[in-house]
Parts: sequence; C-alpha cells; structure tokens
Amino acid sequence: METTLIILKPDAVQRGLMGRLIGRFEAKGLQFVGMKYMMVPKGLAEKHYAEHAGKPFYDGLIGFVTSSPVLVMAIRGINAIAVCRKLIGATNGQKAEPGTIRGDFGMSGGYNLIHGSDSPESAERELALWFGDGGLIDFKSTLEEWVYDPSDY
Ligand code: RTP
Ligand code: MG
Repeated sequence: METTLIILKPDAVQRGLMGRLIGRFEAKGLQFVGMKYMMVPKGLAEKHYAEHAGKPFYDGLIGFVTSSPVLVMAIRGINAIAVCRKLIGATNGQKAEPGTIRGDFGMSGGYNLIHGSDSPESAERELALWFGDGGLIDFKSTLEEWVYDPSDY
C-alpha cells in the first residue's frame, strides 16, 4: 500500500468541482485516510513547491495556491502514487488526455485544478509537511476485498 498527497487547488474549489473530483478517486477504489479544508499559509506553499523556487512561474504559483481554500487529501491504495498521477493527467489541461481530471476539466497550465505527489520520495515529504501533525486515519477499508484480486499479488 502507498499513500499519496492530493490537493484540490483553489480553482477546483471555486468552480464547484470538489465533489466530482473526490468521486473519481472514490470510484477508482482508493481509500481516503486524511482530509483538510484550509487556506494555505504562504510558508507552507513555499515549502511544498520548494523545487520550483526561482522559476518564472513560481511567484504566480504561490499566489494562486494561497488565494482561496484548498482541499488537501491523503489517498491510499496499491501503487496509489502512480495511479493518482495517471488519473490527474498532464500538467496543462489543454495537453492532458481526455478521461484524466485535467483533460476533462481544465484549459490551463497554471490553473490546473489538482496536485498529486510525483514519486514515493515526494509523497513521504509532502505527507510529513501537510499531515505531520496528525490527522491520518489508519483503518481497514471494506473496499479492499472487492477492489484487489489477491491472486494478482
Ligand atoms: P503539481 O506539482 O501541482 O501536481 O503539478 P505537476 O507535477 O503536474 O507540475 P509541476 O512541474 O510540479 O509544476 C507545479 C505547478 O506549477 C505550475 N506550473 N506552471 N507556467 C508554467 O510553465 C508552469 N509550469 C508549472 C502548475 O500549476 C503546476 O501544477
Ligand atoms: Mg509536481
């Protein structure tokens, strides 16, 4: 099992897409183990996007993610990190494949609705940053029995 960090960004919240986007992860068979609805403090946004510091889009990115509430989620499943990145799609909504979240709902590279951890190392770092103070719920999901075929593993 892997756990990944997903953020519904301010544009997703303001556009009233939270329910539909959460529904995609639920329908896939993933488990929600953490959720926080919040305004992002600037310092936290800067830590989260530290790898992009100094890039031309960085100031705009920090301004955007701190401009309005976000929904931060920890989502668990087998290969959840890569699976969620596939569900999310390419960074720019105009290039993202139809069927992905950005491909179906977005037209922008900056206002791209959602964040997902891009590797196990990023997921570990980001989960510590956003849920390091607690809030992850370890529980047995009844989904598992019907989502995963034990003979696959
Ligand atoms: P994210 O980290 O938000 O899940 O997005 P990502 O992996 O698909 O893209 P990444 O390269 O990590 O970029 C982080 C966020 O910065 C904004 N961005 N703008 N204007 C640009 O060229 C540009 N490139 C990146 C996007 O909001 C992107 O999600
Ligand atoms: Mg990224």
